[in-house]
Amino acid sequence: MKWVYISDIAQHLDEEIIIKGWLYNKRSSGRIHFLLIRDGTGIIQGIMEEKEISPETFALYNDLTQESSLIVQGKARADKRAPGGYELYLTDLIPVHIAQEYPIALKEHGTAFLMEHRHLWLRSSRQHAILSIRSEIIKALRDFFDERGFILLDTPILTPAACEGTTTLFETEYFDSGKAYLSQSGQLYAEAGAMAFGKVYCFGPTFRAEKSKTRRHLTEFWMLEPEIAYADLDYIMAFSEEMLQYLVECILTKKGKELEALDRDLAPLKKINSPFPRLSYDEAIKYLQQQGSKIEWGEDFGGDEETILSTIYDQPIIIHRYPRQCKAFYMKGDPEAEGRVLNMDILAPEGYGEIIGGSQREDHLERLLEKIEQQNLPKEAFEWYIDLRRYGSVPHAGFGLGIERTVGWICGLKHVRETIPFPRMMERIYP
Ligand code: 4AD
Ligand code: MG
Repeated sequence: MKWVYISDIAQHLDEEIIIKGWLYNKRSSGRIHFLLIRDGTGIIQGIMEEKEISPETFALYNDLTQESSLIVQGKARADKRAPGGYELYLTDLIPVHIAQEYPIALKEHGTAFLMEHRHLWLRSSRQHAILSIRSEIIKALRDFFDERGFILLDTPILTPAACEGTTTLFETEYFDSGKAYLSQSGQLYAEAGAMAFGKVYCFGPTFRAEKSKTRRHLTEFWMLEPEIAYADLDYIMAFSEEMLQYLVECILTKKGKELEALDRDLAPLKKINSPFPRLSYDEAIKYLQQQGSKIEWGEDFGGDEETILSTIYDQPIIIHRYPRQCKAFYMKGDPEAEGRVLNMDILAPEGYGEIIGGSQREDHLERLLEKIEQQNLPKEAFEWYIDLRRYGSVPHAGFGLGIERTVGWICGLKHVRETIPFPRMMERIYP
C-alpha cells in the first residue's frame, strides 16, 4: 500500500493509500467517528463509518487517546469544510502506540507549563507553523547567499577569545590550554574567510551569557554572518536591504498558509520596500530625547529605545555611525566624524527592534593594535586575526542577522522563545 504524507495528499485523491501519524483530536456521532490525524506535514480528518470497516476496528475508537500513534488506510477526497481541506475515508486503522494521558490538552495552558513541556508542545499546529517558517527563512537566506556566489564557511564554536565583549562569555576548561569560550559570533573567522575567498558567510549557533530577561534575548541563538572583502559600510547597508526584501517576498510567497494560521497581519510585511529609511546615531538620539527618553549621547540603545525607533516608519530602519565607546573593538573609525564608527544596526518595524548588526572592520594594523590594547584584550589570542592586517589587508565589511528575532518579526510573535525549537534563556535549560 502506498504511504503518502498529508502535505502531498492532493496528488493522491481517490487512491487507496496509507498515512502514518498521530491522533490530534477525535469526536463521534455514534455511527461515524471523526479522527483528526496529523503526520508532521499537515492535518487530515479521518472518517470512520460503521458500515465501511470491521466491527473490531470500529471499536478501536474508544481506546485511541490524544497523541496515540496510528497508521490509517483509505481514500482521500477534497472537502472545503474539513480541517486541512481533505477527508480520508478509512478502510483500516492500526494503532502503533496508545499514548498515556497527554499533558497538553487542546485548551489554553500557561506559558511556563508549555515551556516545561516544550518537547510535546512542538506537536501543536501553532508551533508547526512557526518552526516551518523558521526553516523556510533559513533556506531563503542560504539561497540568497548561495545564488550570489558566497561560500559557506563553518566557524568554530570553541574559541580562545571574545568577539563581542567579555561580559557575556560562557567559558569552559580546555585541557592544558586553559580556558576556552563558546563563540559569541563567527565574524572574526569569517574575516579570515573573506580574505581567502572574497565573500563568505557563516551560519550557526552563537552564545551570550546575557543576564537579560527580555522578550528579545536568548543565551543561545543562531546567527547568519556574511563577510565581504573590499566592501564598505555603504555596500553592506544596500546589500542587507536587498537581502531583507528578498527574504520577506520569499516567505510571503511560500508560507502564506502558515502566516495565516498565526493570524499574522500581512499588510505590514507586504509594504516592505527598500531602500529603507536611514538615521545616524546622532539623529536617533535627538529624536529619542524629543520623545522624552532619558538616553544620553554615548549610550547604546536598550529595548525601550529600540521599540520607539522601530515604530517611526513602516519600514525597517537603518541606524548608522554609533559612538565608538558602545561598540566592539573591531569596528573601523569614521574618518569624517570623531568618536564614531562605521557601523549600522537594522531595526525591524512594528516595534520589533534590532535584527541586524554590522560594520566596516578596522583594516589598519596599528589602529587595530591600539583598540585591542585600549580594551585590554589578550593580544596573543588575537595574533591570527591581527595577521589579516599584515598580509594584504583590504577594506572589508559584514553583518550578523539574528535568526530568532527575524522569525519573531516575520511571524509577528511577542517573544523569541517560540522561534527556536528548544530555547535557552537565563532561567531555562530544560528540556
Ligand atoms: O549586534 P551583534 O552582537 O553583532 C555581532 O555579533 C557581529 N559580530 C555581527 C557581524 O558583524 N558579523 O549581533 C547580531 C544580531 C543582532 O542584531 C540580533 O539580531 C542577534 O544577533 N542577537 C541576539 N538574538 C537573540 N538573543 C541575543 N542575546 C542576541 N544577541 C544578538
Ligand atoms: Mg548589536
